[in-house]
Amino acid sequence: MTETDAPLLEVRNLVKHYRDGSGATLRALDDVSLTVRRGEVVGIVGESGCGKTTLGRAVMRLIEPTSGQIRLQGVDFAALSGRALKAARRQVQMIFQDPFGSLNPRHTVGTIVGEPLVVHGVPGGRARVAELLDLVGLPADAAARYPHEFSGGQRQRIAIARALALDPALIIADEPVSALDVSIQSQIINLIVALRARLGLSMIFISHDLSVVRHVSDRVGVMYFGKLVELAPADRLFADPRHPYTRALLASVPRPVKEVVASKRAGGGLAAPTHGEVPDPTDPPPGCAFHLRCPLAVDRCREAVPPLADVAPGHAAACWRA
Ligand SMILES: Nc1ncnc2c1ncn2[C@@H]1O[C@H](COP(=O)(O)OP(=O)(O)O)[C@@H](O)[C@H]1O
Ligand code: SF4
Ligand SMILES: [Mg+2]
Repeated sequence: MTETDAPLLEVRNLVKHYRDGSGATLRALDDVSLTVRRGEVVGIVGESGCGKTTLGRAVMRLIEPTSGQIRLQGVDFAALSGRALKAARRQVQMIFQDPFGSLNPRHTVGTIVGEPLVVHGVPGGRARVAELLDLVGLPADAAARYPHEFSGGQRQRIAIARALALDPALIIADEPVSALDVSIQSQIINLIVALRARLGLSMIFISHDLSVVRHVSDRVGVMYFGKLVELAPADRLFADPRHPYTRALLASVPRPVKEVVASKRAGGGLAAPTHGEVPDPTDPPPGCAFHLRCPLAVDRCREAVPPLADVAPGHAAACWRA
């Protein structure tokens, strides 16, 4: 495989265990493998607590995985140190959910957007900041103002400008619109779609909301309980979902706007897509973790863990009955 054929990002058999308050092991990521190609947007969707943020943070090296490999442009970060590690880190940038907490209130927008340039010693700061603000649809005079002077949507634009400052190879957007009013969400999604077309961005786009992921993603990975349970091109996933969990998620969208607004107000993620409880993450059930909630479960599902296997070209599902 040549350098350009290699996927931009390769995640192999990634595992992350945490210890909960009582000392029990919690499997936040359980053998996740995933690739992102150059110029591709891969959406990651699943209910709160399924491991999406842990995946994004592991790829960012904000947390150390328990085991598994993460290769960016063919290079394993774990093998790097010093200057090489710093250079590799600038290749991945993150956009966080909370556009209030992620911006330093004491710094001007110009300082915030230009900070990655300063950290990495990139010259031409002021002109580049002006260019970035324009790119995300903010006025030039925003540079001299402070985050609190801006609305939630505008603050997320600031965060996006900062993430783009160093022309990163990969952007990880973790619930980038979940904290915003529904009316503002589509503006930020449209911005991401436009930037992606203009700049050829490669991205992991994380959301608990399938209808959000659908608009931006080329491929979509569905996570349940620390595992990737389905992975397919976005159109295929929506037209022909194979995993019962994906079907249940799809059945819950599109929801009436009123209901979406109400669940956002309640700070809620998805409503439980089917009957039954989400299992205790420190005490996973044997077999398929979805079997307690699955309308199609058979004996085999209670005994053996289904592997993520191809069900069609480019379409994989982890279900004995897919
Ligand atoms: N630092 C931590 N210590 C212990 N458990 C954690 C920690 N971070 C996340 N978890 C647990 O790992 C699981 C996955 O969490 P997370 O990746 O945040 O899920 P998501 O982003 O999909 O909501 C959850 O059960 C969560 O409670
Ligand atoms: S493996 Fe069995 S329990 Fe799991 S999703 Fe498929 S049918 Fe349902
Ligand atoms: Mg999260």
